[in-house]
Amino acid sequence: MNANINNLFAGSLWDESCLVGIDILDQQHKNFFSMLDELAYLNRLDNKREEVLQLLNKFEEYTIYHFNTEEKYMDKTDYPDIEKHKNLHKLFTKRIEDFKIAYGYDNKVILEEMISYTRKWMLVHIRVVDIHTTFDKGLITE
Ligand SMILES: [Fe+2]
Ligand SMILES: [Fe+2]
Repeated sequence: MNANINNLFAGSLWDESCLVGIDILDQQHKNFFSMLDELAYLNRLDNKREEVLQLLNKFEEYTIYHFNTEEKYMDKTDYPDIEKHKNLHKLFTKRIEDFKIAYGYDNKVILEEMISYTRKWMLVHIRVVDIHTTFDKGLITE
């Protein structure tokens, strides 16, 4: 059953409709949703500020790592929208900074909104952009 992207707090929203057919990318996409679930869970608890901050940093690092992985597979194809796709990654990476700023104000509500935004962004980006990207399977060495 497909996840409903408007139901933003329904736990992990990943499902088969997000499969792009490259194992390492599919695994990384799944990990994103798990990290966001954990972030949402921790954010609702008291006295977890340090853990939330650590997870935000981890999420940021993981985002950059994932985009690099994905772009490596795009680079050697003649897929026409590479630059557009990379630009979407760049814009999203900037939004991650907003997460940190939001949390810097110690505002759980803002952070919750950012988590919702990110879940939705991920679902749309994976299903609309990643899925239609030509990934060169020949580049996979793992
Ligand atoms: Fe992706
Ligand atoms: Fe992407």
